[in-house]
Amino acid sequence: MPPLSTASAPATHQLRLWWRRLGRRGAAGAAFGAALLAAAFFLTLSRYASVPSTSSSTSPSYGHRLPTLVDLTLVDGAKDKGAVCLDGTPPGYHWLPGFGDGSDKWLLHLEGGSWCRNLTWCAQRKKTSLGSSAYMERRAEFVGILSDDELQNPDFYNWNKVKVRYCDGASFSGNVEEELQDGTSFFFRGQRIWEAVMSELLSKGLSRAKEAFLTGCSAGGLSTYIHCDDFRALVPKASTVKCLADGGFFLDVEDVSGRRYMRGFYNDVARLQDLRKKFPRCSSNMEPGQCIFPREVAKGISTPMFILNPAYDVWQVEHVLSPEGSDTERLWESCRLDITKCDSKQLETLQGFRKELLDAISEYKKRKDWGMFINSCFIHCQSMNALTWHSPSGPRMNGKTIAESVGDWFFNRREVKEIDCEYPCNPTCHNAILSQAYKEE
Ligand SMILES: *[C@@H]1O[C@H](CO)[C@@H](O)[C@H](O)[C@H]1NC(C)=O
Repeated sequence: MPPLSTASAPATHQLRLWWRRLGRRGAAGAAFGAALLAAAFFLTLSRYASVPSTSSSTSPSYGHRLPTLVDLTLVDGAKDKGAVCLDGTPPGYHWLPGFGDGSDKWLLHLEGGSWCRNLTWCAQRKKTSLGSSAYMERRAEFVGILSDDELQNPDFYNWNKVKVRYCDGASFSGNVEEELQDGTSFFFRGQRIWEAVMSELLSKGLSRAKEAFLTGCSAGGLSTYIHCDDFRALVPKASTVKCLADGGFFLDVEDVSGRRYMRGFYNDVARLQDLRKKFPRCSSNMEPGQCIFPREVAKGISTPMFILNPAYDVWQVEHVLSPEGSDTERLWESCRLDITKCDSKQLETLQGFRKELLDAISEYKKRKDWGMFINSCFIHCQSMNALTWHSPSGPRMNGKTIAESVGDWFFNRREVKEIDCEYPCNPTCHNAILSQAYKEE
């Protein structure tokens, strides 16, 4: 095992999020006043994504030690396969070997970080870790579902764990041969990156996995829906393989101005990286962007999946429901950053958003081997930090933390189909209060 380290947080931590814990008495509006500030910590915010994905060493730690830091490995021979990041550099991953009876079990996490929809934006991205391994941190903290601390990660702590870095801009799904776009060099090779990383991990022991778990958050959650069955096919037939998408159920809904902003966004991504061909089952009368939404993608998945998603995913509230361009009068400015600042009409809109999510996942509720945990919290990416994944003060449903619920489902200890009542009914929520600096595009 790599040595423990006391290194400071990676430089990408830009966003300070404050978590406010509702009082035990919960529901009444007055309770907000008495809300108590339980903990504060930093989340990674990729500049272009506004997608928090990992917590830093300043997080409260419920293990008795600092998170393990895991070195970055660049994929061997990736350039020869044309499996490269947006800027042509090789892709990478962080591998923490398993131990004890976890030695032949593998948990992969696909990193998130939004998408780039046009060349201007992809050009910016080339100068960040989300488009180039030249900018990736050399070591990553393994926390939450990636933690090797039994107290923080009771069911998976001793598994092999891999954080796969995201640097293609389109959820590991593009595969465009041409390098030049409008005279500038861009590589849209996410699909090849997926294949190259998997092939390297297979040679390191994944090919002999007894149990395997593909996970990812945000854009990485979408990647998980997209690649779950591909992953299943790589691992021995006799092994147990399941997938978990965290905060990745993006909805094709109208925003506060009545536009389908997210569909337009996905249409751009799909056209730019020619994604349509990755989804041959998607109906031909659909716009290319429609094929990418999890509601569509999940229809074809035959591997057991766990949908972990807050009903009011903050990233979606900010970028799908009330994107800045659709809120010209800036009515949503404070509500989108802090759910306690929403007026009754906005709360009604948020409840409508929750209903759309429940409607979209209803057909997956019927699948016996699927699991879900849809808590009514104002948050994003709950598997990627100690507090929300598994801690005495973390979010719960049915008395269980997210880690316990996911473990119960993975190991068939019980059926897990948890759907929370409406906000603000769940007193265990950690609702994010985003700073004004939290801005995209
Ligand atoms: C490119 O995308 C960015 C961010 O998504 C957007 O703000 C900008 O208007 C787009 N530019 C063009 C030329 O479409």
